[in-house]
Amino acid sequence: MHPSAPPPALTRFRGVRAFLGRIYRAAIATRLSEVSRQVRRERLTYLPPQKLRSLERLVAALERDGVDGSFIECGVALGGSAIVLAKLGDRPFAGYDVFGMMPAPGPDDPPSIHARYAEVTSGRAAGIGGDDYYGYRDDLVHAVEQAFASAGLCVDGTRIALHAGLFEHTLRPERPVALAHIDCDRHDPVALCLERIWPVLSPGGVIVLDDYTGAGACGTATDTFLDTHSDATLTATRPHGIIRKR
Ligand SMILES: C[S@@+](CC[C@H](N)C(=O)[O-])C[C@H]1O[C@@H](n2cnc3c(N)ncnc32)[C@H](O)[C@@H]1O
Repeated sequence: MHPSAPPPALTRFRGVRAFLGRIYRAAIATRLSEVSRQVRRERLTYLPPQKLRSLERLVAALERDGVDGSFIECGVALGGSAIVLAKLGDRPFAGYDVFGMMPAPGPDDPPSIHARYAEVTSGRAAGIGGDDYYGYRDDLVHAVEQAFASAGLCVDGTRIALHAGLFEHTLRPERPVALAHIDCDRHDPVALCLERIWPVLSPGGVIVLDDYTGAGACGTATDTFLDTHSDATLTATRPHGIIRKR
């Protein structure tokens, strides 16, 4: 055995864990709505089935509890999770993204995020399932509008709007918001989105932090926010972070 090779028992344990993980994801996938299946089939989302299923359940709970307000997403990329939210929520939806090359990370982001950014800007990044990486496309916002259209949704600027540009410049949501999905991986944009959305979030409304337990600093930015907002409760950390407003 090579001196740096992991012990056989550990290799076996990892294999079993990966196998069980695949079975779990496959089981969840069978319970997804048709629109979530569609965005997965069309390779429009990076979200695994358990995150899509959790979004679906949150939408249903907000409808059931009559929480007032629109849905928004910060970090749309190819439009997958945005389409799910816009389709399942019978409300206004607004998506925010640069719709182009991802912005540079900052000093509070860890080396893995900087390494990913270097790979993307080198031109060598691959997309979902071996597709071209979406950030290299110069017609991304148009492609996302078309993806909405094939899900039966019209990006008309009122019921459904897409705002292209940095969150710093575009994100000024109007009251009330019932659900915000923050899916932008980085420390500073997560902190900015939380600060801008919180004042207009309805009581009982939720903010979903896609990367709360991920390798990036989203968790740190969120915990800092929670320390200074006594009306915010972290109700889940997996499969993503969920903050509810009292
Ligand atoms: C992980 S992707 C979103 C994935 C998507 N929700 C899905 O269903 O696969 C993150 C997106 O956030 C965007 N983004 C990150 N920081 C941003 C910022 N400061 N302003 C605007 N967009 C930003 C990136 O360009 C990227 O498209």
